[in-house]
Amino acid sequence: MEIFVSGTYQQMSVQAAEDLINLMQASQNKLLCIASGDTPSGMYKEIVAKVEKGALDISDWNFVGLDEWVGMNGQDEGSCRYHLDKQFFYPLQINPEKICFFNGRAADLEKECAATGDFIKQRGGTTAAILGIGSNGHIGMNEPGTSILLHSHVAEIATETQAVGQKYFTTPQRLSHGITVGIADLMEAKHVLLLASGSKKAAIIKKVLEEEISEALPATVLRRHAGFKIYLDAEAAKEAQPS
Ligand code: PGA
Repeated sequence: MEIFVSGTYQQMSVQAAEDLINLMQASQNKLLCIASGDTPSGMYKEIVAKVEKGALDISDWNFVGLDEWVGMNGQDEGSCRYHLDKQFFYPLQINPEKICFFNGRAADLEKECAATGDFIKQRGGTTAAILGIGSNGHIGMNEPGTSILLHSHVAEIATETQAVGQKYFTTPQRLSHGITVGIADLMEAKHVLLLASGSKKAAIIKKVLEEEISEALPATVLRRHAGFKIYLDAEAAKEAQPS
């Protein structure tokens, strides 16, 4: 595990973007497991700016969506796919064939899970997974207590996550279930980059770094992953640092 602490959100975003680009470009297969949420937005902005300047070519990257709310897909304003379309896939004109993303409106959600597993296999595994973390410790939609042996699955959303998740929408939403890549998939990825910013993430980051490794807090399990990197700004790092 490596931990990178930056002074500001902007600096954290730049460093995570640079590292991600280097890891992707050094790999023969290039499959990025991509997270929505507020935290990685700055990093995506950096990548989009580099591509638009002609300083980076990501035409051989493929993408798998980390998670989606059940009942939603890219047509739903505020969904995970909607946010990523807006800030990443559309500005970069990514060919939809290069993207596998859960359709939370599908009648057969198990089929969505299987399709994600197949996509990952067909592309030689996940090169890098981007993660944020919820203040209750969820990663993707893997809530505390989720089996670490699960691959993609339908998940129940914790009450706290349902409440915090309202911030992505302009009107109140029912967010009882999600569909998510599992901890087993993340453990099989070559690299896992977890980003956290702001004082509201400081307490959970301290736990992720210091608590005993257990399913009670699935992010602790990532400490066993040789390619696990954590990117923090000073506010998110403040409780974990010795004073
Ligand atoms: P955030 O979400 O980046 O919007 O804080 C993180 C998460 O819930 O995984």
